[in-house]
Amino acid sequence: MILERQNVVNLKKLQSQLGGLEKRPEIDELSKMIKIFQLYQAGQKEISTKLENLDSEFQVNYDYNPIHHMESRMKDMQSLLQKAERKGYALTAESIQKNIYDIAGIRVITNYLDDIYKVEKLLTNQTDVTLLERKDYIKQPKESGYRSLHIIVKVPVFQSKGPIDVPVEIQIRTVGMDMWASLEHKLRYKTNVDSKLVDKYGDQLKGYADELEQIERGMQEIHKDLI
Ligand code: GTP
Ligand code: MG
Repeated sequence: MILERQNVVNLKKLQSQLGGLEKRPEIDELSKMIKIFQLYQAGQKEISTKLENLDSEFQVNYDYNPIHHMESRMKDMQSLLQKAERKGYALTAESIQKNIYDIAGIRVITNYLDDIYKVEKLLTNQTDVTLLERKDYIKQPKESGYRSLHIIVKVPVFQSKGPIDVPVEIQIRTVGMDMWASLEHKLRYKTNVDSKLVDKYGDQLKGYADELEQIERGMQEIHKDLI
């Protein structure tokens, strides 16, 4: 089998990327961070595999897939250090490991609303997965209208010297919520959008978030009735 090598960071590449920072971390802290990066990426793979396995078991046993698709991303080192700087954390590997939990992230897109909580339960019930933090922006949407379930779990990664627990952030949302969030993200995070447009479309999108919720609840009922 061919080894698919991920986009692994190394010290040289990293140093060339750190232009926008006010302070730069010490060089040996940077090499420790690279090790953490590899460790967290391994944690991300552990969780992705668990989710894939759950989905295929559902396919076999219930002829049904709760997961529509998944995306995963590692926070790039530059935005990781910028976040640490913004939040006032020391730019050391130890402080980053202690304070920042979204270095490894997975987004799970489900077909229906109930699947979100199903996926959460099946994953967090596994004996080696521990729930660290939970924000339910579906029961309590954000002011913008944003809806998603955010959880942070930890999972052991077995290294040559033994297991190390690694946090992974998981955002779970339906196809509808994902479509909404992608468009809203373009509106809010692109700095060149006119502020009048941001207000106008912001309100419109908030309205759509409510409509989408109604539609998704209705479709969920139809689906339940059919299976
Ligand atoms: P940080 O972890 O410091 O970024 O802040 P936090 O923990 O308060 O953030 P939270 O867990 O609420 O959200 C983190 C991620 O969720 C963001 O990076 C976005 O991907 C997504 N998100 C949160 N709120 C919104 C929103 O209003 N609109 C969109 N499009 N995405 C959002
Ligand atoms: Mg967060």
